[in-house]
Amino acid sequence: MGPVDATAAWAWLRSPAARAGGARPAPADAEAADLLALYGPVATAPGRFALAQLGQSLDGCIATRTGDAVHVTGEADREHLHRLRALVDAVLVGVGTVVSDDPRLTVRSVVGRDPHRVVLDPAARAPLTARVLSDGAPVTWCVAEAHEAAARRAVTGDGPVRVLAVPCDERRGVDPHDVLDRLADRGLVRVLVEGGGRTVSRFLRAGALDRLHLSVAPVLLGADGTTGLGVPGPALARDALRPPSRTFRLGDDVCFDLDLAAALRTGAPVGQRER
Ligand SMILES: NC(=O)c1ccc[n+]([C@@H]2O[C@H](COP(=O)([O-])OP(=O)(O)OC[C@H]3O[C@@H](n4cnc5c(N)ncnc54)[C@H](OP(=O)(O)O)[C@@H]3O)[C@@H](O)[C@H]2O)c1
Repeated sequence: MGPVDATAAWAWLRSPAARAGGARPAPADAEAADLLALYGPVATAPGRFALAQLGQSLDGCIATRTGDAVHVTGEADREHLHRLRALVDAVLVGVGTVVSDDPRLTVRSVVGRDPHRVVLDPAARAPLTARVLSDGAPVTWCVAEAHEAAARRAVTGDGPVRVLAVPCDERRGVDPHDVLDRLADRGLVRVLVEGGGRTVSRFLRAGALDRLHLSVAPVLLGADGTTGLGVPGPALARDALRPPSRTFRLGDDVCFDLDLAAALRTGAPVGQRER
């Protein structure tokens, strides 16, 4: 394959050749080079792979105090999110995001296929009118075993909403590894954990993420904004998690691409790893 422009680079990133870990084509211009550099590690990740994303303010918030997250990061980061959705088998959000944002979790800003949608909702408190549960497209509703029967009663058996019962410890909640195992059993091996802060933090704390894309916008949402990442920290800064990172400009925002799997391989601390 000769040098590719941005359109051909994006087509290659979504191709079976990329998924099989094939050699990246040479870029014909800077735009294609940026796409291949940013999305190459996601598109060519071998086997099981979990990536999380958050868009946050300079002061570490992912939404305002009322939960409004619509204009935290800019249009380029929204396109970035849709590219990530197009590269994974499944996109997972916590119920807080469903209640607050009512997202569709589909690919609209770029060319690409929609991923399977997964809602992590142990207490089955997502409204059945939420778009992700009512738009007729397939979705997996992960609820605690204690709420499985009620959730199954609430949805039609052969409809697009699949109830998946997961063990949920009263204190520790749902084990993120367990969720990823169950999705992998269904062929959903490449997963984007899209938010919100509590869900991504739990996956990070459990050591269940291979990469984290953290887009930082030049905006301040205030001390009472909705907190993004929250993992236990060390006493000394030198002991803090400092994974290998790359940065990319997304309009006015800066995306940090953090290689958490590499940090785990080298034994860097990830909060209080649970397993
Ligand atoms: N800027 C961004 O990138 C971005 C992205 C997504 C969302 N958001 C914003 O983030 C806010 C929502 O975030 P959030 O942190 O409040 O909520 P969230 O992460 O969307 O959902 C958290 C809830 O999901 C359930 N949950 C998730 N992981 C669990 C686990 N391992 N075990 C047990 N339960 C688990 C719990 O439900 P229960 O409470 O029922 O136990 C938990 O309270 C909204 O304001 C939204 O707009 C921003």
